[in-house]
Amino acid sequence: MHSPQPATSPISPKRSIRIAFMTWKDDYSVGVAEIDQQHRQLLDLINKLHDAMKAGGSPTALARVLEELIGYTRRHFTFEEFLMKQCGYPGLEPHRVQHRQLVEKIESFQAEVACGKATLSLRLMSFLKDWLALHILESDKQYSRDMQRSGVA
Ligand SMILES: [Fe+2]
Repeated sequence: MHSPQPATSPISPKRSIRIAFMTWKDDYSVGVAEIDQQHRQLLDLINKLHDAMKAGGSPTALARVLEELIGYTRRHFTFEEFLMKQCGYPGLEPHRVQHRQLVEKIESFQAEVACGKATLSLRLMSFLKDWLALHILESDKQYSRDMQRSGVA
């Protein structure tokens, strides 16, 4: 039998549950530990940017987080492309194009932020989140077998 509800809840109504903007799913795993780790880090940086946007930080603070995200994204793409090359993955070139297009897009956004023409919006955040999820699920997962077989990872 259930005990009656206490008159006052032990959870303060003022305490809000913080839900991350983007959460890791097992389905995102590409079966290569180092790449999964880097993807988790990218997710964390997208969440960090989202938090900074929600907190209404100064343009300088936002620009700093954006720079961090772009820098890490570039290093991650370079690493991924290196492994794809090492294992002779045949889809390297079109994959590289996808990477380049994203970097160009966020760099042009960064330039607009720098000159005050644009600011972070939920629309941009959703774009980043959807791009990463779709890219992992539809493009990155295609190299899994080749990388695992060749033993480069
Ligand atoms: Fe990729």
